[in-house]
Amino acid sequence: MANNVLEIDDPLQADNTDNLPALHHSPNGFSERFAYGFTKLLRFCADTFFAKRYGHRAIVLETVAAVPGMVGATLTHLRCLRRMVDDDGWIRTLMEEAENERMHLMTFVEIAQPSWFERMIILIVQWVFYVSFFILYLVSAKTAHRVVGYFEEEAVLSYTLYLDEIDAGRTENIPAPEIARHYWNLSDDATLRDVVIVVRQDEAHHRDVNHGLADQLDGRSFDPATVAAYPIHAPELKPEKLNG
Ligand SMILES: [Fe+2]
Ligand SMILES: [Fe+2]
Repeated sequence: MANNVLEIDDPLQADNTDNLPALHHSPNGFSERFAYGFTKLLRFCADTFFAKRYGHRAIVLETVAAVPGMVGATLTHLRCLRRMVDDDGWIRTLMEEAENERMHLMTFVEIAQPSWFERMIILIVQWVFYVSFFILYLVSAKTAHRVVGYFEEEAVLSYTLYLDEIDAGRTENIPAPEIARHYWNLSDDATLRDVVIVVRQDEAHHRDVNHGLADQLDGRSFDPATVAAYPIHAPELKPEKLNG
C-alpha cells in the first residue's frame, strides 16, 4: 500500500525530494503486521488526543521517539559483550538516533509549553513504553526495529501535516529557536517552517535506517544508498553561550 498522503505538498519542498518517502514499507508476515498494527493503534491514540495541536503533539511524541534508540543501543551493547562480537556500528547509530530525537524535544519545548496534564501523560507513557519496548527488543529485535520504521513513517506524515498548518496560516510561523538554528546550522532568520523541514528529514532518515536494520535481521539485503539523507548536525548540541 503506497502512502499517498506523503506527496510533495509545496514547490519549495520539491527541492527536498530525498526527504520524503518514495514508498511505504508494505507489511509482510506476522512480525511486520504486528509492528504496523501497533503503530496504527498509537497513531489513532495520538490523533484522538492531540487532533491538530501539532506543537504539543510533537513534544509528547518526541519524548517517546527518543526511547527506542537508547534501548536498542543498550541491548545491542550487552549482546556484543556477551558474545564478544563486533556491533557493525549499530550502537553509535542508535545512540545518535536517541540524541537526535532528544534534540527534537529540546527544540519543540521552546515552541510550545506542555500542560501539567501532558506532563502526567509523558510520565505514564514513558514507563509503559520503555518497559514494553525493552521486552519487545529482547523477544524480537527485528520486530522492534520494524516498529520504529513505522513510527518514523508516521512522524514524517505528522510533520508534513504540521507544515500544511503553517502554510495555511493556522499555526504562526514564528522565528526558529536558537538551539535549533545552532543544531541544524540554520540561518539567523530561519523560522518554525525551516525547523519542521529539517526535523522531518531526520525522521525520514531514521525510518530508512530502522527498516534497513529490520531487513538485515530478517536476513534480507539492505542498500544504505536508499537511506534518506541525514541533515548536518552541529557536533556541540548547544551554542557556547547557552552552556550554563
Ligand atoms: Fe523526532
Ligand atoms: Fe523519529
